[in-house]
Amino acid sequence: MKKLTAKELRNMWLNFYKERGHVAIPSASLVPENDPSVLFTTAGMHPLVPYLLGEKHPCGKRLVDIQKCIRTGDIEEVGDDYHCTFFEMLGNWSLGDYFKKEKIAWSFDFLTNPNYLGIKKEDLAVTVFAGDETAPRDNESYECWKKCGLTDAQIFFLPKEHNWWILASGVGPCGPDSEMFIDTGKKKCSKDCNPSCNCGKYVEIGNDVYMEYVIKNKGGKAEPNKQRNVDTGFGFDRLLYISNGYESVYDSELFMPIIKKIEEISNLFYLLNNETKRNMRIIADHIKASVFMICDGVVPLNVEQGYVLRRLIRRAINCARKLNFDGSRLAELVGVVVDIYKEFYPELVEKQSEIEKQILLENEKFSKTLSQGIKEFEKVCKYTTNGVLNGKTAFRLYDTFGFPLELTKELAKEKGLGVDEEGYKEAFKIHQEKSKMAGDKVFKGGLADTGENTVKLHTAVHLLNSALKHIVSPDINQKGSNITSERLRFDFNCDHKLTDEEKKALEDYVNECIKEDIPVVCKEMSLDEAKSLGAVGVFENKYGDKVKVYIIGDKSTEICGGPHVKHTGELHHFKIVKEESSSAGVRRIKAILD
Ligand code: ALA
Repeated sequence: MKKLTAKELRNMWLNFYKERGHVAIPSASLVPENDPSVLFTTAGMHPLVPYLLGEKHPCGKRLVDIQKCIRTGDIEEVGDDYHCTFFEMLGNWSLGDYFKKEKIAWSFDFLTNPNYLGIKKEDLAVTVFAGDETAPRDNESYECWKKCGLTDAQIFFLPKEHNWWILASGVGPCGPDSEMFIDTGKKKCSKDCNPSCNCGKYVEIGNDVYMEYVIKNKGGKAEPNKQRNVDTGFGFDRLLYISNGYESVYDSELFMPIIKKIEEISNLFYLLNNETKRNMRIIADHIKASVFMICDGVVPLNVEQGYVLRRLIRRAINCARKLNFDGSRLAELVGVVVDIYKEFYPELVEKQSEIEKQILLENEKFSKTLSQGIKEFEKVCKYTTNGVLNGKTAFRLYDTFGFPLELTKELAKEKGLGVDEEGYKEAFKIHQEKSKMAGDKVFKGGLADTGENTVKLHTAVHLLNSALKHIVSPDINQKGSNITSERLRFDFNCDHKLTDEEKKALEDYVNECIKEDIPVVCKEMSLDEAKSLGAVGVFENKYGDKVKVYIIGDKSTEICGGPHVKHTGELHHFKIVKEESSSAGVRRIKAILD
């Protein structure tokens, strides 16, 4: 296998698919735009959902990229050899273009050809879909893998739990997949040992999904999609450590400089013992994830994305405490993360001081919470039975005030008290199951939910944006938006609470546009042309060279991926249901169509 640097692997991936007719597109934000079904971008296909459902992509039918992702479902596993919160996914797509035959031949070539990864054919294993009432057994993929020279012993047929891919929300484009693994050569764990048994013999490196189905509503059935797509995802961090022969993802150049800095700050060796190693890995992972989240506009809060960020920073502070250094010093790791990634994500450099500031601020807030927690601790100590602090209380101290169990035990000991550790673990487990269920999902509509109302609300967002500029101030810009199947939410900069007259005028403006039944036209053009038309767009740098612009008469011209209605008349009637503050200088409107 070839030893590669991160830069070489990035270029190798992008060039391999560019040479095969793909256009490289930049990574989208970690915070999905207009999709409330998940908190973070969890896979490369996520920002491409509208195109997988049939919208035309301005860069064509073949795309390649490297997408930033956050997955928090396995947060308790972070610190082992493989799990990370932040990772990058090497992706490529066929949007209704090539299918299994071409894709499997390319995946195989990329993995085994000595000009690319050069993995020995014998060291690979793959899985294909076994078939059920939704879709037949994937014999075509099986035949393709056989043609590449894999033996029957290397190809495993597995059922839906393992070989069917859909976003965590359970709606959107989906289909059977074919996963690729490295066979580490370890002994089979049983005669039924296979890539799904997680015994460590097989390590997953990539996945090709054949998205020819769609689930339109939560709990609905998979139906044939408008077009047959391929969605590929290879784990960049994993390929890098495997190709270099390392034991863990933390040994690669994407982590080692951070760990070295933690050694320097803590004056401890990474390999001192398992506990130290684990704490350093958690800090490195969590701070890296926090750096990327803050760079994409997330701030520590008690809700949604901000809550995940807050938990990550606070967990890192707790680990720092275990390594005997103060949480404020975590800010020193930001520059190290920026150095590792700045060539590929130059925006990090600009945001570095803001990111450091947010981490320091959160550390201060956490310190305050901890002192409040100490007061609470003093109180609850009075109510112990038989000199033992109740497990649920110990868990509440952890959950509400961030007290790690060790801290509670230490404080209790000073008072000659014990702690019901079993009860604590029990409460912890219940909480963990609940949050696992919630995971990255928030179970609502979003653009993956192709419901008609979602599309209508999306068009209403454009009209509202235009109305605000006309009626309230031309300086208003979109600061965020979020659509469920019931309502739209729109954040914008504004220095005052809207008056009743303003709200009424906004509604009238949008309803007038609806009444005029203006056609909604989509045009493709270069970013420069779009700018010269005065098009508005929020995250310009995430688009490729060519962009889609949705034009609603002379009312609105906006860079946007779609989808939208064909005529404004389809929206019927627009009504604002709430206007409130979102954060300093930012107001929020919630509106419905009735
Ligand atoms: N979307 C597929 C995955 O994340 C490629 O595994």
